[in-house]
Order: sequence, then structure tokens, then C-alpha cells
Amino acid sequence: MEIILAKQAGFCFGVKRATQMAFEAADMGGQTFTLGPIIHSPQVVQKLEDMGVKVLNDLGELDTGTIIIRSHGVTSGELEEAVRKELEIVDATCPFVKKAQEHVQSLSCAGYDVVVVGDADHPEVQGIVSYAMGKVYVVGSGDEAAKLPRMSKIGVVAQTTQSFENLEDVVRQCLRRGSELRVFHTICDATAVRQDAAKDLAKQVDCVIVIGGFNSGNTKRLAEVCSEIQVRTHHIETADQLLPEWLEGVARVGVTAGASTPKWIIDEVIEMIEQIDKDKNG
Ligand code: F3S
Repeated sequence: MEIILAKQAGFCFGVKRATQMAFEAADMGGQTFTLGPIIHSPQVVQKLEDMGVKVLNDLGELDTGTIIIRSHGVTSGELEEAVRKELEIVDATCPFVKKAQEHVQSLSCAGYDVVVVGDADHPEVQGIVSYAMGKVYVVGSGDEAAKLPRMSKIGVVAQTTQSFENLEDVVRQCLRRGSELRVFHTICDATAVRQDAAKDLAKQVDCVIVIGGFNSGNTKRLAEVCSEIQVRTHHIETADQLLPEWLEGVARVGVTAGASTPKWIIDEVIEMIEQIDKDKNG
């Protein structure tokens, strides 16, 4: 059986950087915490926990120690609280998310009302929005943007994982809502690149294995995209969830993984597929 790994799979730049920073902080010892799980990979969170890194839900629970800020950032208020409490801060906010936060701040300072294209419930968006000093609106689509009030100066920033088409729709609506418009293209292409690579992969194989946290939005999306092309698509978190019957009659199996899936888990899955194939052929 041939195993084909998607051209782009697994950790994106920001998640890789955040994970490395977290493991480095864990190695230093001392009381170390993350605000929420560092990434959407229960296995990475568990590994860090085994090294003494605890997950906190609220900074209120902490008075001393090291706090690791995850790749999608925190609100300006949370950051200020960490500084005020004199915690050791390991800021693993992805530089692309940081850029979006900075744009919101500078647009606000320059008197623009800010429109953030994204999911209002997502912590990344809540962080980005918190940097606005004046009016700020979160819209999920062009239809929602059509309901915005009239403004004189509008600044648009997008959540990093938004699609370009959605940003375009919102911008088109904003053109009708204000007389001056400034747009920052803050979309990161890591998600789109992984989806395109997954589509290419699904077209070439008889079965696709998608690896990543069941709580990871981008992994779930990868599994959806693949299953639209190849019905024999299976989403797993770890190698032990792989079922031999999935590979019955399969000549080529494709493997892809979400942006928060570590390489060691991808390697374990590939080894398991090789083992199943070996067992099958006696
Ligand atoms: Fe950063 Fe893009 Fe990953 S914004 S965290 S590199 S998906």
C-alpha cells in the first residue's frame, strides 16, 4: 500500500513557535501555566501537563509564576493584569495575530471605527477587538456588514483564519457604509494552503486519514473538505484509533493533519498504517 502525505500538513508557523516556547518554558521548571489549552491538541496539552504546565481558565486564579500566552493571543486587559501581577510572561501570540491587534489599535487612534471580520465568540477575535479604543464591530459575513450603521471612517481587519472571499464581501458592504475605508489584509494563508493540499491529496487516493484534535476547527474542516471528494475519509486524534478495516482494498492511502497536530503523532499514524499493511500481507 502506498502512503501519501499531503504537501502541507500539521503545525503552522504560529503553532509550532508557540509549542516550542511552551516546552522551553516547561524545561525551565517553576510554576508554569497556560491561559486555556496552548493549542487544540489534547496530546500536546497532556505532554505539557506531565512536565508540570497547568491549564488555567482565568488569570484571577494566579498570583505568581509564569504564564504562557497562546498563539491566538489574549485581550489587552488580560495582558495588563499579568503585567500588574508581575507574572513572568511568555508571549507566544502568533506574530500574524499580533499584527491584527496592532492594526486595530492604530486605526482606533487615528479615529476610525473598526470592523473586525470574524467569529465574535473566538478568543482570537475577542483579543483583537480589545485593542480598539473607540467603536468596534464584529461581523461574520457581508450580510451582517450590510446592517452596520453609517460611519465616516471605517477600518477593516480580519481574523487570521477567515476566507479571502468573506473579507471581500464585508469590504464591499463597508464601501456603502462610510466615506473613507482602510483595509488591512490580516488573513494568514496557512489554513487555506492546508485545505488546498488536502483536496489535491483526496483526489489521488482511495482513503484519507485526517489527524488532529476533535476540538480543532481547522482539522474538522479538513475532514469535511476531504470527505466531499473521497467518502472513505476518517478523522482520528491518535494512531490507536485507526481501524484496519478502513484500509481494506486500499492501494493508496492519503494522510493529512490540522495546523495543531504535532509531527510525532503524524509519524505514529504512518507507522501504524505500515504495520497494518504488513500484518495484512502476512
Ligand atoms: Fe499564526 Fe496562521 Fe497559524 S495566524 S497561528 S500561522 S494559522
